[in-house]
Amino acid sequence: MDQQNIPDTLTVIQNRKSVRNYTGEPVTETQIEVLLKAAMAAPSAVNCQPWAFVVVTERKTLDKLADVLPYAKMLYKAGAAVIVCAIPEKAHKKMKEYAIIDSTLASGNILLAAEAIGLGAIWTAAYPYPDRMEPVRSILNIPPEVIPLNVIPIGRPTGEDKPKKKFNPKVIHTERWKNSMISLSFLRKLVK
Ligand SMILES: Cc1cc2nc3c(=O)[nH]c(=O)nc-3n(C[C@H](O)[C@H](O)[C@H](O)COP(=O)(O)O)c2cc1C
Repeated sequence: MDQQNIPDTLTVIQNRKSVRNYTGEPVTETQIEVLLKAAMAAPSAVNCQPWAFVVVTERKTLDKLADVLPYAKMLYKAGAAVIVCAIPEKAHKKMKEYAIIDSTLASGNILLAAEAIGLGAIWTAAYPYPDRMEPVRSILNIPPEVIPLNVIPIGRPTGEDKPKKKFNPKVIHTERWKNSMISLSFLRKLVK
């Protein structure tokens, strides 16, 4: 991995997209380490870091996860997966909400780091669906008090998946919440 070819942060953020199409190439240990270091650099309430990560590279296990998760069939072609686990016991005030929030931030960093190093990744849901969390727990031997938040398939992208245009000025309220969707410039045009 050539550190000099990593784009700047804002370019990475804008280029990130959910990648569902992979070439089938393997993901290296070094690449996975980059993703996990990014994950653990995330902020967490009172720095509790209430998370754990299950890294899967065995084909058999990736396929088993794909079999049981209805919206994660891209795992069949992924080179690896990271399962981000939220641990309420370790969270600030032992609150499940903080465990989920903090682990979500760690997950976001994985998605961005994958983009930065030329890999593709996608959040596929385990939480909050009991019928997805249970099979993930059972396949990966995750204890009942630990929440498998998501399954993040990772692979070399084919290039089919593109970033979506999402910037929407209409959702921005300046200084205070304004209920009217009519903009000031539109009102000015009306009174002219
Ligand atoms: C909480 C959450 C759950 C998601 N679950 C799935 C999923 O199970 N399967 C899937 O294909 N995509 C899943 N996604 C990906 C979203 O569909 C995707 O982020 C969204 O369409 C926006 O596209 P983008 O990531 O390319 O910007 C999930 C995303 C989030 C944040």
